[in-house]
Amino acid sequence: MAEPTLAEKKAQLEADVQALGVTPVWVRAREREGSGGGQPRGLGETSRPLVLPWSTLYPLLLRAGEVITMGEDAFRRAFGGYQIVMPEERAVAHRHSFSAVRFAVLGDGLGYTTSNGEQMFMEPGDFMVQPSMCWHDHGNLGQEPVVWMDFLDIDLLLPLETGMSEGWPNDDIQPVTHKEGFYGDLYGNVRPARLIGAQLNSIADSPPMTYKWRDTLPMLERMAADGEHDPYDGVLLEYANPVTGGPTLPTMRARIQLLAPGEETLAHRHTGFVRYNCVQGEGVTTLDLEDTTELEWGLRDIFRVPSWRWHRHKNLSKTEPAILFSIGYSPMAETLGLYREEAAPAGA
Ligand SMILES: [Fe+2]
Ligand SMILES: [Fe+2]
Repeated sequence: MAEPTLAEKKAQLEADVQALGVTPVWVRAREREGSGGGQPRGLGETSRPLVLPWSTLYPLLLRAGEVITMGEDAFRRAFGGYQIVMPEERAVAHRHSFSAVRFAVLGDGLGYTTSNGEQMFMEPGDFMVQPSMCWHDHGNLGQEPVVWMDFLDIDLLLPLETGMSEGWPNDDIQPVTHKEGFYGDLYGNVRPARLIGAQLNSIADSPPMTYKWRDTLPMLERMAADGEHDPYDGVLLEYANPVTGGPTLPTMRARIQLLAPGEETLAHRHTGFVRYNCVQGEGVTTLDLEDTTELEWGLRDIFRVPSWRWHRHKNLSKTEPAILFSIGYSPMAETLGLYREEAAPAGA
């Protein structure tokens, strides 16, 4: 049998990804172009519960690394929530009205994203925020594939007809003008006096930020030891916006939570889907109070809890904590007064 052509390999990859119930980012971009742009994806995908095991995703990501050329075929070689950047690849700089967040899951620390002049290197567990209109380009200086979780507020902005983007002059990368940690220092607990009381008049007023895993993990552990506890989510921390102290960005919030060994939370429900990825451990998230659906998850698996579905989390290990990263659009709903949250009836 003849070796499949590159076009056939691409088509087969796209079919295999879509069989998981998700659409590759580059296919969505192609569809938007075909429809004249501005078409929201709607609730087709996000209204369904979903589990994407790492064992299924990673081989597909590696295949994408081989057959999908960055820049030519895809701006983001991403699907199911993860993006892969192969060794020695780099993307050109650009910016857009969509804000992006990234949570690194795989790599040797030599993957980076440069944000408004700061080259932010990413180790697994690092979380990065690139607010609206922040110049960014990324690459991988290492010899191992780099994978991070990607999330943009594109589905919120397109229906508002506010999507726009531009490239760096001459399709180049941007110069590195700040040392690593610059924005974190600028917006740290001791900051330039001129920034005290700064306002967030637009998302673009928010700085790009890196929240390092080497800070986040000890914080989770200290909070657990200090008895910090939410009955629905265990130890629940949020990546605060450095300007407002409020949600990560006005459109989306990112959280990290720890479930103690053997912990099973109470059930609640809230508006807006939440997408999780498992950073450590294994567990099960149970949807609904009757005729339940169980979403089982382990290391680097992605799962999604749809809007307004009862859910509870359980750490399946009796000895190790489980850690989940999550992301959703609830700040936008809160701004409009549309966010609702409800506890399940006692004993449910
Ligand atoms: Fe981008
Ligand atoms: Fe929840």
